Amino acid sequence: MNVPISARASERPHSPGSRSAFGEGRATAKVILFGEHAVVYGAPALAAPVSSLVTRARVAFGDDAPRIRSAAYSGALDRAPERVSPTVTALLATLERLEHPSAGVRLEIESDIPVARGLGSSAAVASAIVDATAAALGASLTEADRHELVQTAERAAHGSPSGLDARAVRADGPVWFRAGEAVPVPVGAPLHLVIADTGVRGRTRLAVEEVAARRAVDPDGVDAAIARLGTLTFDARAAVAGGDISAVGRGMDEAQRILTGLGVGHPALDHLAVTARGAGALGAKLTGGGQGGCLIALGSGAEQALVLADALRASGAAATWITTVEATT
Ligand code: PMV
Repeated sequence: MNVPISARASERPHSPGSRSAFGEGRATAKVILFGEHAVVYGAPALAAPVSSLVTRARVAFGDDAPRIRSAAYSGALDRAPERVSPTVTALLATLERLEHPSAGVRLEIESDIPVARGLGSSAAVASAIVDATAAALGASLTEADRHELVQTAERAAHGSPSGLDARAVRADGPVWFRAGEAVPVPVGAPLHLVIADTGVRGRTRLAVEEVAARRAVDPDGVDAAIARLGTLTFDARAAVAGGDISAVGRGMDEAQRILTGLGVGHPALDHLAVTARGAGALGAKLTGGGQGGCLIALGSGAEQALVLADALRASGAAATWITTVEATT
């Protein structure tokens, strides 16, 4: 179901190093199933791309002054406001890496991914821009180069990102992430997930800072919570591989309790989690940085996920999306 990310240039074939009329890149949203926040402290994480929510970037070179066109800002590159600095960073860092001037560059972004909802919007935008820029210049980047460029933009967005988002928005299936690297994970039975938007902006940078501040005051308590989140992530990998979706759901509920205890929950997330469980979800938790953003709820099947989505919207979710992590075996 999930499609690989792609980058393509408009003129083909072209010789390496030749410049095309334009280049395109795309990336998807992602959900963190287990391990957000703990991953910042070296614990593993499980994440999956959301193939129905896509960001596309297109880069071209002309004679006009450098420009951006996007929902967040349209205008001259050198007058872009601070809120789009990750976008500008992704473009300029890639041009610099490819030793190409910014003169005449034109960047267009279209994205289905809601911003600041824990769904990886900033990483997806950066990833699409990196690919589009390289494609426009007929240049090839190694996977390590690409990752580092996305991370450069993510630092402008979040401070010191773990790299999980940068990997997950480029993945073509669920991934196990640890120490900067992501590998595919086997899935024994499909996971029917409902993503529910609280309508409250998530605050990843502040939430990460909040956990760090708590750890400074209570290192033993916070480290115990991080260790437990790590154990839940290992257990979830085994449950996902074995197709034990009830165990996955139970782990989600415990992760939600721990994350809330770490100060990254939100009353709107609690409210939607209660609704999801009341409507038969096997488990529910926040996804991403928290303090707002989105909840993910695990349905017992495809039909039940539809029921869950209706219940969540009726209970105040600003939007819902259903995403299925397909079985691999
Ligand atoms: O809110 P998002 O989608 O940017 O996810 C953040 C995940 C954290 O673990 C909280 C931070 C990180 O760098 O991994």
